[in-house]
Amino acid sequence: MEVVIVPDAASGGELIAEAMAQLLRRKPDALLGVATGSTPLPVYQALTAKVRSGAVDASRARIAQLDEYVGLPADHPESYRSVLRREVLEPLGLGMPAFLGPDGTAEDVPEACAAYDRALAEAGGVDLQLLGIGTDGHIGFNEPCSSLASRTRIKTLTQQTRVDNARFFDGDIDQVPHHVITQGIGTILEARHLVLLATGEGKADAVAATVEGPVAAVCPASALQLHPHATVVVDEAAASKLK
Ligand code: F6R
Repeated sequence: MEVVIVPDAASGGELIAEAMAQLLRRKPDALLGVATGSTPLPVYQALTAKVRSGAVDASRARIAQLDEYVGLPADHPESYRSVLRREVLEPLGLGMPAFLGPDGTAEDVPEACAAYDRALAEAGGVDLQLLGIGTDGHIGFNEPCSSLASRTRIKTLTQQTRVDNARFFDGDIDQVPHHVITQGIGTILEARHLVLLATGEGKADAVAATVEGPVAAVCPASALQLHPHATVVVDEAAASKLK
């Protein structure tokens, strides 16, 4: 695992966007796995700037979703499909045919999960998976004590994660769904390159457990230690508890 400490979130965004741009120059139809939440926004902004300036052509890029709420209609503004359309696909000039994601409104959710794992494999696998990290060490919505071998499946959100995400639902926790579909940790580990971005002091404990703790289900992100090509990009505040 490589750890890169950057001065601030914008520098982290620039660094990762450049890694994505280099990948797209080498493999124009690369499958980029993307996360939602606040942390990745500087990456998407920096990559968009590169596309708009002509530094990279992303017109053949493909985008894969990490996780999705169960039960929110696809066109709900806070479904992750809508969020990614707004924050990633539209700024990069991509349409929905470039998008892969699980169906959070399927009647048979376990089958929708298995179908998504199959779709990722049929698409050739994720080339670069961008990850954020929860204050409790979750990646995707693999909360603490998720199996490190898990596949895409339905999970119940912890109360803490629902509290954290209420900010996207007018601060009203009652509007935050209880369930999500998330790529499993085993699924995530199949991506060719994992890039985790963490910024801010609130992530410092989780970053220390990820990088310096044991590989343990209590900190799902520690599974990155098992991956042959994992990069952890942290700002100084998120790095503040590393030894
Ligand atoms: C969302 C996701 C989550 C977030 C994590 C951190 O797709 O994968 O694991 O990355 O909850 O969220 P932020 O970046 O908002 O602190």
